[in-house]
Amino acid sequence: MSILIKNGTVITAAGQQEADVLIVGERIESVSARGTNVQADEVLDAQGKYVVPGGIDVHTHMELPFGGTFASDDFETGTRAAAWGGTTTIIDFAVQTKGQNLMDGYEAWRTKADGNCAIDYGFHLIVGDVTDQSLKEMDIAMGEGVTSFKMFMAYPGVFYSTDGEIFRAMQKAAENGATIMMHAENGIAIDVLIAQALERGETDPIYHGIVRRSILEGEATHRAIKLAELAGCPLYVVHMSALEALAEVTNARDEGLNVFAETCPQYLFLDLDDLGNGFEGAKFVCSPPLRDRAEGHQEALWSGLATNDLQIVSTDHCPFCFEDHPELGRQKRLGEGDFSKIPNGLPGVEHRVELIYHGAVAEERLSLERWVEVCATTPARMFGLYPRKGTIAVGSDADIVIFDPDKHHQLSAATHHMRTDYSCYEGMEVTGGVDTVLSRGRVIISGDQYLGKKGDGQYLVRDLNQYLV
Ligand code: URP
Ligand code: ZN
Ligand code: ZN
Repeated sequence: MSILIKNGTVITAAGQQEADVLIVGERIESVSARGTNVQADEVLDAQGKYVVPGGIDVHTHMELPFGGTFASDDFETGTRAAAWGGTTTIIDFAVQTKGQNLMDGYEAWRTKADGNCAIDYGFHLIVGDVTDQSLKEMDIAMGEGVTSFKMFMAYPGVFYSTDGEIFRAMQKAAENGATIMMHAENGIAIDVLIAQALERGETDPIYHGIVRRSILEGEATHRAIKLAELAGCPLYVVHMSALEALAEVTNARDEGLNVFAETCPQYLFLDLDDLGNGFEGAKFVCSPPLRDRAEGHQEALWSGLATNDLQIVSTDHCPFCFEDHPELGRQKRLGEGDFSKIPNGLPGVEHRVELIYHGAVAEERLSLERWVEVCATTPARMFGLYPRKGTIAVGSDADIVIFDPDKHHQLSAATHHMRTDYSCYEGMEVTGGVDTVLSRGRVIISGDQYLGKKGDGQYLVRDLNQYLV
């Protein structure tokens, strides 16, 4: 089976080209000057549209157990929603819980995902219990293509690790060239502030945003960088929200350290005010929290993306329903009367590629090439998938999005495909939208039709970070 994408403008991180893309089977066979005589079984006309690599979302949490419930998207619903939004690869977080072997977490997540994904997928592993055994199992994980491990300086009593535990895991990562991904917030100090707020009767969701101070994200980011520098391992700071944290990463990169960071659409588009309005604010509870716009975090993050102090935009997709759900039960409402009990996380996997196009290209903050780079190419390189993924080149997987820059649409829970009953972007008008999506040569989205199916997605064995200095 062959498909020719004709008349489009091909955008990669390296540049733009008026070119036709021939796909044979699952791979890209040729990229040739527009109008070259190439024959194919099927032709897709991309006149007036961009032809870009499928998005790669390196931070999702399908079915994550959190706060007495589970993230509401499973691998079937979550990867289908991702496809609708032009994402053709996710890297999700498998979880090792306390007392469990590390590889048990990996096996459990393979069981949840295998046969259920509409797009390709890989895993990072959350190291939830640093023991001699789990450190040994980090070697085994590498053999399964899990080359990155997340640790938490936040959430004491849940995923939290002490500095000593983090340092031991970093030393192991350094031996293998693996990347440590860090949730950098000082969870111990935050817990003190949470308890004090609750004692004062400050129970609404807005206090989630107030107690999780940006200075404590900056402090934890600094500490993580120093521990990684000492251990000699690459560090990737996840879901960065605060300008103090960005300053730490910028300094570390200027010093030539292997320090990298991502942010997420919610930290670019939303702010502390969204956590207000009584319990409605629970819809926006995630950690780190949405930040005060007047303090300049949002514009600092956009600048960081422009200067490459921030390299990636991921979603941290971790949805919970606002109202009680017939199968999932109570989710966000678990925290009524106590903001610290609201499950942390937001829906987002469907909207990243379009939102970043809107904020970056349509609103003229970043170039088309940089949009592709932060949404697809750098994620592929950072997490060992390039050049199979993340570009449009001969031999690469035919994960391709035909993107219509002239499309205008409104984001809404009434039309999105994520399994959650609200949208953080309800009513927002977005410029640019996904028209057609191909996953390894198969058309899975065509206009308003979903043509994919669960089980088409393959597990990805990943290589090491390709940016190490
Ligand atoms: O609030 C968030 N970010 N929930 C997901 C878990 C995590 O910390 O990434
Ligand atoms: Zn986190
Ligand atoms: Zn996360």
